Formats: sequence, structure tokens, C-alpha cells
Amino acid sequence: MADPNKLLYARHLETRQKHTAEALTEAGYDGLLILSGSPRMYFLDDQGPPFRSNPHFTAWLPLPAHPECALLIRPGQTPKLWYYQPEDFWHVPPPAPESWWADALEVEICRKPDLWRKPAGSVGALAVIAEEPGQVGGLDRADINPEGLVARLHEHRTEKTAWERHLLMEANRLAAAGHRAAASAFREGLSELEIHLRYQAAVGQSSSDLPYSSIVGVNEHAAVLHYQHQSSRRPDDPRTLLIDAGAGSKGYAADVTRTTTTDNGDFAAMIRDMDEGQQRLCERARAGVSFVDLHQSTHLLVGAILQKFDVVDLDPDSMVEAGITGTFFPHGLGHFIGVQVHDVAGKTAPDGSDLPPPDGHPALRLTRRLESGNVITIEPGIYFIPVLLEKLRNSGAGKSVNWTRVDDFQPFGGIRIEDDVLVTDGDPVNFTRQALEETPS
Ligand code: GLY
Ligand code: MN
Ligand code: MN
Repeated sequence: MADPNKLLYARHLETRQKHTAEALTEAGYDGLLILSGSPRMYFLDDQGPPFRSNPHFTAWLPLPAHPECALLIRPGQTPKLWYYQPEDFWHVPPPAPESWWADALEVEICRKPDLWRKPAGSVGALAVIAEEPGQVGGLDRADINPEGLVARLHEHRTEKTAWERHLLMEANRLAAAGHRAAASAFREGLSELEIHLRYQAAVGQSSSDLPYSSIVGVNEHAAVLHYQHQSSRRPDDPRTLLIDAGAGSKGYAADVTRTTTTDNGDFAAMIRDMDEGQQRLCERARAGVSFVDLHQSTHLLVGAILQKFDVVDLDPDSMVEAGITGTFFPHGLGHFIGVQVHDVAGKTAPDGSDLPPPDGHPALRLTRRLESGNVITIEPGIYFIPVLLEKLRNSGAGKSVNWTRVDDFQPFGGIRIEDDVLVTDGDPVNFTRQALEETPS
């Protein structure tokens, strides 16, 4: 039977080839060389972070952690891959290329890292995308990371191919298993570190396989947007778990957040309201919709919840007007997702011009009108963040806040609910909710 990956991948490659050929011709290049990159070491050390391929390379090939490879693309020609497979007894060398992807390319197995240099040097007008321009020594006439071409390629990555959608859904399936396991671990009273380890075991990925460092915040730590520790101490009184953790599939990322509580009162009701509001926002993620408008609607949602739970004594519009909602929701509603968790081109228009976030919303990472084929996150939140609350208390707007209600909620930290959503011309496809539905608790 034909490998289903093979067909999807071949079509993906055709799309990349077509778009890249157009971009090269427009920019006056004969070819594009993409270097996967070289492992980095910590300063004065022989240890380094786990290797990740150049994202442009991973957007072409299912090789997200393959150093010293090179891909040459020329209009009208089969892409050529120099696949680095050293004889190495310190590490496991990369496996032989698999036919489902390698058959679509011309592949040369290399025992040495720079066999691409000479043939690439004879291409003519060559553009190179490389993390380390120093690596490209010897290609004197090559343009390294030319801005205009790179911007065009970024733009093409905003519309996910069927292959990429498949991988993003796969990544969400893996993450869903982890989120189920994490919620159970929290209910057992385990520590942040233990919850994280249960998450990873269920996903089946080590920390270096995950697309980003998991955020595992229990109680007040749920109020730290990018909480970076994982305490090994079991909480005396587990109230909240906010876990923002993903998974990878051939270099494509899931980015998922869930908030769970042991509370049966107002905080649990607040999570339910946020969950319903988040689903309404996801429903609105359709082609033609401005993501800035969705982000602004989120401030009204946050305002409505704060009013309902008696935290702020103003209607949502006045709350937004007074700048109060930004204290409780200081980040953006979401971003593009793909090979990169915060995928490229979120703040540029299709013609390449800048689309800066509106005043007062510097953290918004996506400012475009949505288009069919975009995959985005929708991640509203409400947090009780001491340093921001203190500023609000000391401002004129502080008088509208019911501080005893803030005191009630602060021990719970905060709420974030984050799904990965495919935008279409019709109903959006929520990869995360689909994956969670398929995954038993
Ligand atoms: N996990 C980072 C984010 O949600 O953007
Ligand atoms: Mn996110
Ligand atoms: Mn996230």
C-alpha cells in the first residue's frame, strides 16, 4: 500500500517549489541554498543546547534536528539535498533517508559537512539562508539572508499546506495526551516537576523534542506568564494548574494551554466563562477577519468576566477605555504557529509592509487579517499578577477595583486557555479541541 505520507509530502514539496521558484525569479536569483545549521556550544564549553535545524530547512524537509545538511532549490529542477550522515561512534548518526520523503528529491549522502560548497558555488546568482553567515565562506558572490526574498518566503509559510496541517494536527494529538495526564497528576497533588514528567511521558517526547519549555504553574505560579521553573515540592493546597505545553511532529509545533482547578466556586465558574468565551473567539477565526479586532473583543470578554465576578465595578467598554483590562490580560490573543511556535510574518501585510500592533497592545504578535490556510493560536487569559495589580491600585483607575475580590482570586493565580486553530473560508477547524475529544481523560 502506498504510504499516505508520501503523497501529502510530495504535494507539499511541489507547493514550496512553485512558490520559491516564483520568489527567486522575481528577485533575480538562479538558486536558493538553505543550510540546516551547525550545533552551537555554550561559551568556553563543549556542551550546548539541543540542535534545531534552520526553520526554513524544516519547512521543506522532515529533518528538524539534522545539522550540516544543505538544500539547493533551482526553478524547474528537482531540489538537491546534501544529507549529512557522519561515521560517528560518540552519537547515533542520522538514519538513512526514508523513501517516502527522499524519493521526491535528489539526495547525496555526505560523510563530510561541506560537500555542498563547490556545486553551490557554480549556480550563478545564489541566495543563501543560513543562521551563521560565516558558514558560507567561499561563496563570495552569494547573497546571505536577503531581506526581500526571505520576507516573500515567510509570507508563503503563512498558508499551511495539507501536509503541514496534518503535522500540526498530529502534534496536537500528542499534546492532548500530555494535557490529560497533567490534569490527572495535578488532581493527585503532585509537584510541578512531577506533573511535567507525567506530561512528557504521555507525549513520549523529551524536553529537547518539545517545541518550547513547558510552563507548569501551580497556584500563584499560574499568574507568571512564562513561568520558567518546575518546583519539585508538592503543594500543600493545590488550587490551580496552568499548563502551557506543546509537542512536536516532524518539526511542527502544538502550543496548548489548559487551566484546571480543585475549586468548586467562583474561580471554577470563571474558568468555565473563559472557556466559553475562548470558544466563541475560535468560532470567529475566519478568512477576512481582522485579528486585531478579535484581540480587542478579547478585552471586552475579559471585562465582562471581571464585571460578572465583581472584580471591577465598571461595564466592559468603560473598563477597556480606562485601560483596566490590560492589567488582567497583558498579552496578545495569539500568533501564527507552524515550524516555529511563534511563526513568521504575523506583523507584516501580504505585500511585505509592516503592520505594527495598535497603541497599548505591544505584545500582540499577529496583526493581520486572517486568510484561509492560516494556523493560529487563540489564547485569552485572566491573571492576578501582583506587580501589575500594584500599578493599577496606585493609578486613578484603581478606585473602580474591588480589592477584596482581587484578594479572593489571587491565590488561584490565573487562567489561560489556548487552542491551535486552522482558518478556512468556512468553519474554523480547532485542532486542539478535536484532539482532546479523541483522547480519553
Ligand atoms: N507557549 C507560548 C505561547 O503561548 O505563546
Ligand atoms: Mn501561544
Ligand atoms: Mn502557549
